[in-house]
Amino acid sequence: MTQASTVVEHLGAEYFSDPYSVHARLRAEHPVARVIMPGGTPAWLITGYTEARAALTDPRLLKMPKGWRPDPDSWFASLDMHMLNSDPPDHERLRKLVNKVFTARRVEQLRPRITAITEALLDDMSARQEVDLLTAFAFPLPVTVICELLGVPVADRDQFRAWSATIVSETVSSEVAQAHLTAMISYFRDLLAARRREPADDLLSALISARDQGDRLSENELLSMAWLLLVAGHETTVNLIGSGVLALLLNPGELARLRADPALLGGAVEELLRYVSPVNDATFRFTGEPVDLGGVHIGPGEVVLVSLSGANRDPSRYADPEALDVGRDSTGHLAFGHGIHYCVGAPLARLEAEIAFGALLERFGSMTLAVPPAELRWRPSSLIHGLESLPVRLRT
Ligand code: HEM
Repeated sequence: MTQASTVVEHLGAEYFSDPYSVHARLRAEHPVARVIMPGGTPAWLITGYTEARAALTDPRLLKMPKGWRPDPDSWFASLDMHMLNSDPPDHERLRKLVNKVFTARRVEQLRPRITAITEALLDDMSARQEVDLLTAFAFPLPVTVICELLGVPVADRDQFRAWSATIVSETVSSEVAQAHLTAMISYFRDLLAARRREPADDLLSALISARDQGDRLSENELLSMAWLLLVAGHETTVNLIGSGVLALLLNPGELARLRADPALLGGAVEELLRYVSPVNDATFRFTGEPVDLGGVHIGPGEVVLVSLSGANRDPSRYADPEALDVGRDSTGHLAFGHGIHYCVGAPLARLEAEIAFGALLERFGSMTLAVPPAELRWRPSSLIHGLESLPVRLRT
């Protein structure tokens, strides 16, 4: 058994812009490595594919530290009592409430509406020669879809973008974080109160009725669920579209291949999920008891981070993993996680991405980066790997 704690890797801001080379270096020597994350958290970072898959189904890795329950009046209890922070049996109870809404069959019914939103955004973009693809397309598409599904006013979307940026940032000041958390909680409290007074045909109203009639979730769980679905429902897809377009622009041969053969689209979305991995490292897990992972002994109460992007570029699983290959079989990638927390929104994300990439390539015969790649800035987050902006030049 390795006591790998002798090697501690301090990850700095370079991890935000290029997590891939850090993972490659760590994986070669310590697929389960002792690290200090850029935000200062000591953790075990898993970058090997086999180890990552095993960790994601290991019941000894918990989402809530053992014996810890948040103060019911704290912001944590208001926003974070959701399925992604829960262990069985709470996890199953919470997930069951929304599972049906996101099945591939139900989601397919959204195709006409997602297509209409996409086409309207592309119409607006056509009028301009240069746009920030994130602001003009990658952000408004998924945020509009999830707002409409939940019954959250789309007009408030810029507010969500700012809040969401704060949540995933590792460099934001505690004053800003606190102010945004307080604003978010009161926003959702007011929204839920309004829906309670006047129910509508939307997911929030359905969840409120599950709370009030079946008493299947607490008030904090209701608030947390609404918030999780809103944030998880757009933040990740934004970056699949944004970073996916960038990956194609930086690999013009693959872009041309995809343009020439639209039948590749479904597989290309999977490859972009693998290659981009919008969720860089999965959310925190805690060892409830001592665990041996990949030959490394980890004591109880430690933070374990499963690097999805590290696993997705493990050469023992994917040949030539640093190459984008829109024709490859990317089956088994971990971009949506694995195990009981596997992304509930995966069918929706896949549909949105397929429509978005298909329509974008069809509309614009030419698309080029409007700045040198070295000028692109990445968001300060280990959880989300995403661009601050993506200036592109478009021609129909
Ligand atoms: C490209 C887009 C997306 C990616 C890459 C993605 C990725 C992920 C990943 C990796 C997890 C598991 C995290 C972990 O185990 O720590 C997850 C969970 C989750 N995702 Fe997504 N997601 C995407 C889109 C969506 C959408 C559109 C929704 C809309 C509802 C959504 C809702 C959720 C929820 C609710 C969970 C928690 C599931 C649970 O704990 O059982 N995601 N997602």
